[in-house]
Amino acid sequence: MSAVPEIDLADPAVAADPFTAYGTAREQGPVAKLVGPGFAPMWVLTRHAEARAMLTDGRFALGEGTYQPLDVPEHCRPYLRTMQETEGEQHARLRRLTAPAFAARRALDFRPRIERVVTRLLDALPAQGPVDLLTEFAQPLPMEVICELVGVPEADRPRWHEYGTTVVRGTGSGFATAVPGIIDGARDLVARPDSDLLRHLTGDAGLTEQETVAMVWQLVLAGQTPANFLANAVETLLAHPDQAAVLRAEPQWWPNAVDELMRWCGSQLLTIPRRTTEDVDLHGVLVRAGEPVTASIAAANHDPRAFDDPDRFDVRRAAGAHLGFAYGPHFCLGASFARVQVEVALSAILDRFPGLRVLEVQRVPDPGTWRLAALPVLR
Ligand code: HEM
Repeated sequence: MSAVPEIDLADPAVAADPFTAYGTAREQGPVAKLVGPGFAPMWVLTRHAEARAMLTDGRFALGEGTYQPLDVPEHCRPYLRTMQETEGEQHARLRRLTAPAFAARRALDFRPRIERVVTRLLDALPAQGPVDLLTEFAQPLPMEVICELVGVPEADRPRWHEYGTTVVRGTGSGFATAVPGIIDGARDLVARPDSDLLRHLTGDAGLTEQETVAMVWQLVLAGQTPANFLANAVETLLAHPDQAAVLRAEPQWWPNAVDELMRWCGSQLLTIPRRTTEDVDLHGVLVRAGEPVTASIAAANHDPRAFDDPDRFDVRRAAGAHLGFAYGPHFCLGASFARVQVEVALSAILDRFPGLRVLEVQRVPDPGTWRLAALPVLR
């Protein structure tokens, strides 16, 4: 259908400002087409309501396309199948068995441990001169939190940090090379569970060894998402000093602010693509069975139909309906932990460094992730 706007992922203007590119498409209609060299075309939903409807519609299914295509040794293959590659009853069972370990209550109980990690990382920053908060703080923090959660011994953590850095940089060949190490490491941890989480997953929860290892390897992947987001959030807060001032003076706004930041500068631009299980009429566009469909988190989160005055950053806004953690059955399992981690990290930074300023903002042109190349700051 010719009326469907196309978004060229190779266009530098799209990479430089995906919010404008997707937003322009959104105002032409709820469906657009993503195109680009070396990239199979994909349908994308750009409006909030339509994106949510797709994410809860069983005709759009996640499957073996997410991790299975990775080139890894045969013994790793069974562990690649995470809950993100399953649907229906199989997926519901995995969610049921793991959800208690990721409940909001658990995340709150875990808060003091996150606070200790944040304090340690901030204490370790060089005393003077510019510092890159991306590599020195935002990247190591999520992996430290996952290590605490899963019970990785102190001595093993340096190599897990290397995995984390590889994961944060994307899914290229370096990533595939890191996968066997992550999976073998996850198997070792599961064989000798030394954390509440692993004792729960290997004990009462009733997961198989394969499912538990897949869960740990997925936590390493998915649990890195805060890294790029934290850097975006610091940059955003410093670019809006009036909003940072609100949070310094009235810290009760932090939970709102975390959601508003997710809405405003979330790092995941698109959901994982789903495939249609049958031919679907997608708001007037015929999508053939098996074609990929994604949702533009960035466009939906700035949809004026869902958020008043969406281009205003307001930490007091009730922005909880954002799609930064997706929606429906695959809604981020770690959302409660992510929220606590982000709040603890950002509030500590604002409290500790009242004169913080960003020296340079340079983004990596990455069609899937809105991210900074570095976050050099002066305190
Ligand atoms: C700011 C931080 C985070 C963001 C923005 C984020 C975002 C997301 C999104 C968008 C999805 C759904 C993907 C899709 O269906 O297309 C997802 C799923 C998931 N996330 Fe997160 N995430 C974050 C942090 C975390 C953390 C810290 C953990 C672990 C502790 C985690 C664990 C997971 C898991 C296990 C899934 C798969 C859920 C399923 O398939 O049912 N995430 N996340």
